[in-house]
Amino acid sequence: MSEPVQTPQTQFQPRIFSGIQPSGGLTLGNYLGALKRFVEKQDEGIETIYCLVDMHAITVWQDPEKLRQQTREGAAAFIAAGIDPKRSILFNQSQVSAHAELAWIFNCVARMGWMNRMTQFKDKAGKNAEAASLGLYAYPALMAADIMVYHATMVPVGEDQKQHLELTRDIAIKFNNDFGVNFFPVVEPLIEGAATRVMSLRDGTKKMSKSDPSDQSRINLTDDADMIAAKIRKAKTDPEPLPDTAAGLKDRPEAKNLVNIYAGLSGQSVDQVIAEYAGAQFGTFKPKLAELAVAKLSPITTEMNRLMKDPAEIDRILGQGADRAEAIACPIMEKTYEITGMIRSRRG
Ligand code: TYM
Repeated sequence: MSEPVQTPQTQFQPRIFSGIQPSGGLTLGNYLGALKRFVEKQDEGIETIYCLVDMHAITVWQDPEKLRQQTREGAAAFIAAGIDPKRSILFNQSQVSAHAELAWIFNCVARMGWMNRMTQFKDKAGKNAEAASLGLYAYPALMAADIMVYHATMVPVGEDQKQHLELTRDIAIKFNNDFGVNFFPVVEPLIEGAATRVMSLRDGTKKMSKSDPSDQSRINLTDDADMIAAKIRKAKTDPEPLPDTAAGLKDRPEAKNLVNIYAGLSGQSVDQVIAEYAGAQFGTFKPKLAELAVAKLSPITTEMNRLMKDPAEIDRILGQGADRAEAIACPIMEKTYEITGMIRSRRG
């Protein structure tokens, strides 16, 4: 779908944007595919903007009180995992109205045909697409706006977001071409590491997801040590021992998933994990994985629980983050209005 990148990118300073939906508690998939890498990017010293995308969450029904709670819990998870709200900008999307404003303009740039190809819409809408919200259909244009309203150049995500980022590139290129400008950067997706697609613990061919009806399918960041260990113990596997090479994991989705999770949590490559556990039975490997998962996740859960005791402080952090985000987004939005021919006489 993407045309070749025509825009010289040198004028855009490196800036990272990424988001997570507060549509449920965060999972190990969100942690390994996104959150852990958000922290690494922050620690590399790049300008980082992270967002709880509450407006994306309401593209499917959300109970208002639960949504508020989950947004705070999401923010607590970011901070507990190592996001420092002084070094990164951390906020919730609805507090910065420029996201919705730019999304509308992008709705007028993106084509129906592009949206019709989005696999996430098809998955989420299911068989009855007629009953899906219009927001769910337009979701990728809001996502493009999230990124472009900051002129972000890099977006760390899990593999499932790749198609949305290709669409973001297409929207930026079309906007630039339509208006004869070089205004929006063409983003680079950062899909890196051993665990860019963490799979369900019950079915190695399905993505681990906060919306899966089975709680046994996922590890939640709120699970305690016993729950984590029990879920790993019961995780589906096959009867073979672990292979001698990473290639031996082919056609063994459950085994591959557990090895990827181990690699993601330990910071090792899959080859290193395989070298250590070649020939091991799951009876040996699973307790080691459980031990590692508890060691890495428990401190985050404990810190999240501590932070959640003071919701007012979380709201204060999100508010401050939103002020900082808005200071970047507002001039970009004003310029977008100017490019598209809107009169903005109230702001001089
Ligand atoms: P969401 O909320 O579904 O997931 C948040 C992030 O977690 C990653 N992720 C996974 N990674 C590996 N394995 C898994 N099983 C797994 N499940 C989720 C996702 O790839 C994502 O990086 N549309 C986005 C939210 C969004 C966004 C944005 C992201 C809105 N605007 C702008 C980046 C930039 C979403 O639904 O993510």
